[in-house]
Amino acid sequence: MKVLAGTSNLRLCKDIARQLKLKLVNSHIRRFADGEVYIEINENIRGNSIFVIQSTSNPANDNLMELLICIDALRRSSAKNITAVIPYFGYARQDRKVVPRTAISAKLVSNLITNAGANRILSVDLHAGQIQGFFDIPVDNLFATPIFARHVKKIKLNNLICVAPDVGGVERTRALSRRLNSTIAIIDKRRPSPGKSEVMNIVGNVKNKNCVIVDDIIDSGGTIVNAAKALKEKGAKDVYVYITHAVLSGEAVQKIERSRIKKLITTDTIDNSKKIGRSKKIEIISLAPMISEAMKRIANSTSVSSLFK
Ligand code: R5P
Repeated sequence: MKVLAGTSNLRLCKDIARQLKLKLVNSHIRRFADGEVYIEINENIRGNSIFVIQSTSNPANDNLMELLICIDALRRSSAKNITAVIPYFGYARQDRKVVPRTAISAKLVSNLITNAGANRILSVDLHAGQIQGFFDIPVDNLFATPIFARHVKKIKLNNLICVAPDVGGVERTRALSRRLNSTIAIIDKRRPSPGKSEVMNIVGNVKNKNCVIVDDIIDSGGTIVNAAKALKEKGAKDVYVYITHAVLSGEAVQKIERSRIKKLITTDTIDNSKKIGRSKKIEIISLAPMISEAMKRIANSTSVSSLFK
C-alpha cells in the first residue's frame, strides 16, 4: 500500500500518511508555463496498491486534470491497483438535467476518472448517493455524520432539533437525528436563479430549540445564512451548522461571520487554512483518521461499512 498526494490538499494527505505511518510516494507534480500538469513518480511502484488523494475543489478543472494525469502515470508505472481518494468530489452537483439541454457533468467526470485507469473510488459525503452508480468500479462513500454527532454530544446541546436546509438534505438530517435522538425540521428552499436561495417555509417547530443544520456543501453561504436567519425569526435559540465540504466561494466566510449562526463546524476535505484564518465562528474537524482507516480496510479487504455501525 502506497499513498500518492495530489497538490489540492497536501495538509490532509500528510495527516492521512501520518495516521497510516507511511511516507508519501516520492513524486514531483508541477505546471508548465502554459498551465499543463506534469507528474514524475520518483520511486518504483510496480505491483503496489496505490491510493492517490486529490480533492477536485477550486480550481476544480486544474485539480481534476491533475488527478487524471496522476492516475495515468500510476497505470503506466504498473501499479497493481489504483484507488482514487477524492475527499471532495467536485462537479457532484451537476448530477442530473435540471433544465433541458444541459450536461450531466458528474457522469462525465466519473467516466474520465474510470477511463484514466482508477480501479476504485473512495469519497466522502457525495452530494447524491446515486453518483456511485455513475461508476462501474467500486465506490466507497464515507459519512461525516458520526463525527458530527460526536461533536454535538461533546458540546452538550440540549433541547435539540436537527434541520435539513433543503429537501435534498432530509436523508442526511434524519441520519444525524437518529444518532442524537432528536426530532427534525425541514426548510423549503427555492433557488430563484443559480447561486441565489430563498427560504419559503419551515416545516417543524423550532421555537426555543437549539437548531443543528447539517449539509454536504457550503458554497456561497447563501443557503445556510438564510436558513439561520429564518430559524431565528421563528424563535430558534441558537443555530449550529455542520457541513462536510467547505467550498466557501467569494465572500462566504465574511457572510458567515456576520450571520446569525452561532458556530459552523466543517471538515478538512478542502484545504481552507488560508481562507478561514482568524474566523471566530468556523471550526474544522479533521477527517484524516476516518479516511485513513477506510484506506487501511480497503487495502486489507475488510469491511468499510462497519466503520459506521
Ligand atoms: C445543495 O443542494 C447543496 O447541498 C448545498 O446546500 C449548496 O450547494 C450550498 O450552496 P450555497 O452555500 O451557495 O447556498
